[in-house]
Amino acid sequence: MRSGRCRGSSTSAPRRRSGTGSRSSTSSCTSASGPGRTRCRTATRHTTLYGSKDDLLSRFILATNSDTGKVDYKYLRDIILNIVMAGKDTTAGALAWFLYMMCKHPEVQEKISKEAADAGEATSSIDDFSRSLTEEALNKMHYLHAALTETLRLYPSLPLDNKECFSDDVLPNGFSVGKGDIVFYAPYAMGRMERLWSEDAIAFRPERWLDERGEFLPESPFKFTAFQAGPRICLGKEFAYRQMKIFAAVLLRFFVLELHDKYASVNYRTMITLYIDQGLHLTATAR
Ligand code: HEM
Repeated sequence: MRSGRCRGSSTSAPRRRSGTGSRSSTSSCTSASGPGRTRCRTATRHTTLYGSKDDLLSRFILATNSDTGKVDYKYLRDIILNIVMAGKDTTAGALAWFLYMMCKHPEVQEKISKEAADAGEATSSIDDFSRSLTEEALNKMHYLHAALTETLRLYPSLPLDNKECFSDDVLPNGFSVGKGDIVFYAPYAMGRMERLWSEDAIAFRPERWLDERGEFLPESPFKFTAFQAGPRICLGKEFAYRQMKIFAAVLLRFFVLELHDKYASVNYRTMITLYIDQGLHLTATAR
């Protein structure tokens, strides 16, 4: 069984190439002559231009040009498409629903704000606080991790996903599927099943993800399917959590969020990813 969407897709995972991104591999070309020298100059220029930058695109530009001295634009295009399609809309959608949940559950918002303040540096500067959110600080934020996961359980960025059978197969429950059949699974529906999540399945309760010491307790990805499961599980999962935790920690540490119109109902828009229809209108007040 393979992912239906993967066939012929150019959104493959970023590949690691030999000698990628290292300054030493670029400078080792300096003895080349003729066309080789031109390539090396180009590579050196790219290293100088992008080497001092920390953003993701610059790192990929460095990584793709160091082998040949040229930027591999097709590879770069695939990476960017990959990140935009797989990484941007999913993360942005998850954060929008997370902020909606924060407005609906101010007590959770307060707990996260406190957890963030405790994990990061005690400072009134947003920049200094952001800088203090190291890997170690992020790992301390179990409650925030749980709240993000609880959001994705109820509002999975990919509410419906499909697979195409490459050969006849039998599912674990004994159901036979034939070559070419399309099988759907629905993280949105699965995340709300009482059979899986108990009678309060519909309730937003980050505590369900925490053990008695308050530490995050992961579930099987075959039960919590927001990132898919098995060999094709989302490659950017950890990256996504890191991004979302930094964004949420900084925002909630410094601002109180409320719905602009407390009585307006928020609905989803049916697309590949789960959008909030008409966007989310919030009021942010500095703490
Ligand atoms: C909340 C955020 C995210 C969610 C909920 C999510 C969810 C998913 C899901 C359900 C799939 C499986 C799609 C399928 O094959 O049918 C997937 C695949 C993938 N995701 Fe994510 N994703 C998120 C963020 C990211 C980010 C930030 C990146 C990269 C920077 C990323 C990279 C990928 C890649 C490369 C795949 C394809 C893996 C493969 O086919 O082997 N994702 N993601």
